[in-house]
Amino acid sequence: FDNITSSYDYAIKDQLDENDQQNNFALALVRFNKILDAHPKSPRALFGKANCLDQLADKERSNELLRKSIDVYLKILNMEDVPDILYQQAAERCINRMRFIGFYGRAISVHNLLIRRFPDEIKFRNQLSITYLTVNKIKEARSLLVDTLRRWPDDGVALVHYGFILKVSDNNLKEGMKYLAKGLNTKAEGVVDGRFYFHLGDALTRLGKLKQAQDVFIDGVANKVFLSLYQRSLYNVNRLTGKPWWSIGDLPRYQQFFKSLEANYKLIRNEGTNALNGKGSFQDEAENLRDKGDWKQLELYARGVKNKDNCKRCPFTCKLVESLSDATGCRRGQIKFSVMHPGTHVWPHCGPTNCRLRAHLGLVVPPKTYIRVAQETRSWREGKVLIFDDSFEHEVWHNGTDFRLVLIVDTWHPELTVKEKRTLSSI
Ligand code: LMR
Ligand code: MN
Repeated sequence: FDNITSSYDYAIKDQLDENDQQNNFALALVRFNKILDAHPKSPRALFGKANCLDQLADKERSNELLRKSIDVYLKILNMEDVPDILYQQAAERCINRMRFIGFYGRAISVHNLLIRRFPDEIKFRNQLSITYLTVNKIKEARSLLVDTLRRWPDDGVALVHYGFILKVSDNNLKEGMKYLAKGLNTKAEGVVDGRFYFHLGDALTRLGKLKQAQDVFIDGVANKVFLSLYQRSLYNVNRLTGKPWWSIGDLPRYQQFFKSLEANYKLIRNEGTNALNGKGSFQDEAENLRDKGDWKQLELYARGVKNKDNCKRCPFTCKLVESLSDATGCRRGQIKFSVMHPGTHVWPHCGPTNCRLRAHLGLVVPPKTYIRVAQETRSWREGKVLIFDDSFEHEVWHNGTDFRLVLIVDTWHPELTVKEKRTLSSI
């Protein structure tokens, strides 16, 4: 405990040491308060108190206690004569707790305290860059990272985060690729993260460097950030069966539902094409997945929430899909009409999660329209359902001459438990 003990605390070191061993945090809190009555400026007693409040907040899931612990951590940071190690521990935990409760603005000021006190420690700068990215302060993250890389040009964490901004925010594939690749190569702590492999592979794919992209994906599988070479979703339940294509027969609980979609496809198609003719209802695909062309969607359900306005335009379809709660209640998926115009190519991509399966009901299907999932390419048929797992790499082409319209229905993966379906976070 010597390196966290200030000269002031040295006199009461034995008391502090003993209390730090205490596992009953309520009791320890009382004792730290007592020590603080006699020694209000003891950094270690304050740290002990903050830690007790922090642990109790966790145990009792109390935000009030958490806020109190944050206040005590902050007190330490504004005191004289706090040993470096103690200061760092208090600040890092304080930031951690502030992020947890969503106090990002206050976290940023603590980051800056750390950076000012330890200007040569790159990790504190990187931590701030990550907080900036978390709250989408891209401008601030960018300028801090550029500055950091000037002094530490080989730092893996700074490289991958800067590469991420170039690739994702700027859509600068070439530069993004360079930084992501260089950063990932370091294998430094904090760089082996699916998002960086995902975006490096994607940049390489779009630049036509398919062999290099595959090497990145293989490396990602080896580092356990991907389920397999083709299945590269990042939000997964690991035990679920994963295969690119499914058939209605594989899904006994959904069989009736898919049959009724197929039986009613003409009515569904009518609603879809009517909505398509109405102005402004379909929205451009917004995930930057298009290489070229025109691809729009009309969302009926997203993340388990009904789009009431759009459902008013398509009451029959909405009523029909509402017969399967594993579809409308799929908080990790959507239900939507998808229209694709001639000349469209959708880049190879993977959905975010392996917790859903994606069904396409063919409504208007001209020739020369294709979808590849993993290594097998198929086409739609009007009135027929095509089911695939969109966590596998898939790619779509429309080389025909008329629009293609499908109804996309995501369902929960059939192997999820009732509890998982109730508690998995929305995506
Ligand atoms: C996809 O998820 O990329 C495709 O299913 C979209 C589409 O409309 O074919
Ligand atoms: Mn897709």
